[in-house]
Amino acid sequence: ARRVVVLISGNGSNLQALIDEQQHDRLGGEIVAVISNQADAYGLKRAQEAGIDAVALPHREYDSREAYDGALIKVIERHEPDLVVLAGFMRILTPRFVQRFLGRLINIHPSLLPAYQGLHTHARALADGVAEHGCSVHFVTEELDGGPVLLQAAVEVAEDESEDSLKEKVHAREHLIYPIAVKWCLEGRLQFRDGGARFDGTPLPEQGLR
Ligand code: GAR
Repeated sequence: ARRVVVLISGNGSNLQALIDEQQHDRLGGEIVAVISNQADAYGLKRAQEAGIDAVALPHREYDSREAYDGALIKVIERHEPDLVVLAGFMRILTPRFVQRFLGRLINIHPSLLPAYQGLHTHARALADGVAEHGCSVHFVTEELDGGPVLLQAAVEVAEDESEDSLKEKVHAREHLIYPIAVKWCLEGRLQFRDGGARFDGTPLPEQGLR
């Protein structure tokens, strides 16, 4: 079976969506380890509950980003993954890390990229009064939140939308599209080639599949 390592920092609801798919034999592979930079991340409990190897690797115990990412690379490689999945992993990765896993490293981001890269995406979208917001799955490159987009899901922003309600709506879409993206990556349908993303061999547009 294809092997997946998931990196988290917190609640791990996206991890849970992936675990649920795996338990229904729909993921197209096996989550072999979950690694968190926060020892108290609830997602580690979700992994343990599902019988998945759960590893806490606190970044505070390392002197530099390079040292931490070096340790992270070692732990990940021990599990020989075909795909490394960032699911709410709230750390910027070094170029060395990104290069090591380039083309088999994906992330989910809570906006319709290229809009709202970075943090506080829901608050910023609301403040701008946009009609549409959402989430994106993308290949990770050295450009922060700038790698080629694979899949997006959009939600309508209501008149009386609050930050919490918007976040909740987007989360629900994340849980739908991330398992699909993971499955298509594991099947080789989504591929990173020549710096871009392809679906069944065809280059994807800037916003990926929607
Ligand atoms: C998700 O909304 C994900 O898009 C976001 O963190 C949340 C994690 O939730 N990721 C980022 O902001 C990456 N910069 P979860 O732990 O419940 O899956």
